[in-house]
Amino acid sequence: MKKIAVLTSGGDAPGMNAAIRAVVRYGLDMGMEVMGVERGLQGLIDDLFVPMNMRSVSDIIHRGGTILKTARCPEFKTQEGQQKAIENLRARGVEGLIVIGGDGSFMGAKAMTDKGFPSIGIPGTIDNDLAYTDYTLGFDTACNTILDAINKIRDTMSSHERVSIIEVMGRNCGDLALYTGLCGGAEVIIVPEHKLTIDQIVKTLGGGMEHGKTSGIIVLAEGAGHADDLKAELSARTDMVVKSTRLGHVQRGGSPSCRDRYLGTCFGVHAVKLLKQGIGNRIVGIKNHKFYDMDIVEGCAMKKHFDNELYETALIVGK
Ligand code: ADP
Ligand code: F6P
Repeated sequence: MKKIAVLTSGGDAPGMNAAIRAVVRYGLDMGMEVMGVERGLQGLIDDLFVPMNMRSVSDIIHRGGTILKTARCPEFKTQEGQQKAIENLRARGVEGLIVIGGDGSFMGAKAMTDKGFPSIGIPGTIDNDLAYTDYTLGFDTACNTILDAINKIRDTMSSHERVSIIEVMGRNCGDLALYTGLCGGAEVIIVPEHKLTIDQIVKTLGGGMEHGKTSGIIVLAEGAGHADDLKAELSARTDMVVKSTRLGHVQRGGSPSCRDRYLGTCFGVHAVKLLKQGIGNRIVGIKNHKFYDMDIVEGCAMKKHFDNELYETALIVGK
């Protein structure tokens, strides 16, 4: 391939800029022209192409968000939207596409390949909800941002002898809650994969108090409920002073961690190498420390494995 394009789609994630930078510079180094597409898949339909050069991606490796902007685009689910996107790409002489996003965006990349336009997916989402890869871009940074918040909340909970519920993102996946609950020393971790009853939560907190604890941290995944609802239930059931914090979008921003810059760079390079060989319909990932690629449909159909053993460990060491 002589000319490729790159875009970011769905929710942004720290490390997307590192991936864009790698795609642009590695692609140019391989003798290809590289176009950026603004506003995700919507930008393909709206013809928002920007030629990229070595300097277009200067000074971005440390920035959160995505310099190409991102969007959600219902029109891309239609045949007309996809056809228009391919017409715009072909009119500019683009031969291959790299889509950085989550599984929704990957369906867009698949639709493009099905219509004869080779496309590759790079996993970019803080949720870590894609089964075929051990890590998605942005997960590590989001974990560190959440941990920082937990540490701060812990200081004040401890001083006032209170219990805090911290609601984190993740859609239907409990990974953000699991890892930050474990590493933040939470007494209770509530994830969609293991919904706990109010009795179990009260019992766990009470057990800690019997052993001398005077404050507590509950990490709640958004897919398992809402912090305010749980606060109301706990306040009604116990005499503990309960506070709730919904971290919201603070956990999606910020400078990417070392790991996310590394992943973004290596995912980007891997994707460019595939397109250079004319290969499409693949998603790039990392398994057991090795970068690899697999078929989009097969990869997206894989069922996410929740680490039950780690979850049990987190609850034991959080007692
Ligand atoms: P993510 O990529 O983070 O999972 P979304 O699920 O919101 O985020 O999907 C991002 C975009 O991917 C959607 O707005 C839409 O443009 C596109 N998309 C999602 N599902 C499909 C589909 N089945 N076919 C084509 N495009 C899709
Ligand atoms: O997929 C990333 C994510 O941040 C989820 O964790 C969350 O449920 C969702 O996106 C929030 O989306 P929005 O930014 O559109 O509110």
